[in-house]
Amino acid sequence: MEKLTGLKKFKTAVFISGTGSNLKNLIKFSKIKKTPISINLIISNTNKAKGLKYANQFNIRKKIFNFQNLKNIEKKILILLKKEKISLICLAGFMRILSKNFIKKFDGKIINIHPSLLPKYKGLNTHEKAIKNKDKYGGCSVHYVTSKLDSGKIILQKKVKITAKDDFISLSKRVLKEEHKLYPAAILKIFN
Ligand code: GAR
Repeated sequence: MEKLTGLKKFKTAVFISGTGSNLKNLIKFSKIKKTPISINLIISNTNKAKGLKYANQFNIRKKIFNFQNLKNIEKKILILLKKEKISLICLAGFMRILSKNFIKKFDGKIINIHPSLLPKYKGLNTHEKAIKNKDKYGGCSVHYVTSKLDSGKIILQKKVKITAKDDFISLSKRVLKEEHKLYPAAILKIFN
């Protein structure tokens, strides 16, 4: 990533599908003094994403795409990203898979947060899998997005101890708290 110079902020788009707690946290992070990013665009694949409320709350442009015709939609998204001069995409609970072509166009500039200690448990139901396998630790990872699902280079990871009392709800709550620290830390790392 380019070095951070002076007051220049990297315009960022956050892609969401759901609650948007990571989005809210990234918006908070984009307002602190040492932040390298500004959040200029929120993209969702559904108008049901609760996180869209943060677009209104923080006065950030939002756009909803249904992602049914992926090629067509991605073309539109690329035009929008260019228009908004976006240089970083943060996936934050975004539950759609982007095409190889799209990822290539934004090569090295798309990052994702995933609720497991990658390369363990790519895909869905990560906490259930960690508990079922009696793992000592769950956790989260921030990684670069490549065309292989949840497989790009890891930027940062955080372990979370799994106790005998944990079910996937209690574990996911504790991991989510760590996600909120890890995502900003990973962004600071890539820009420094
Ligand atoms: C987070 O736990 C995130 O790691 C996960 O979805 C949740 C979204 O929460 N992402 C994935 O599973 C991506 N494969 P949020 O909407 O409150 O940020």
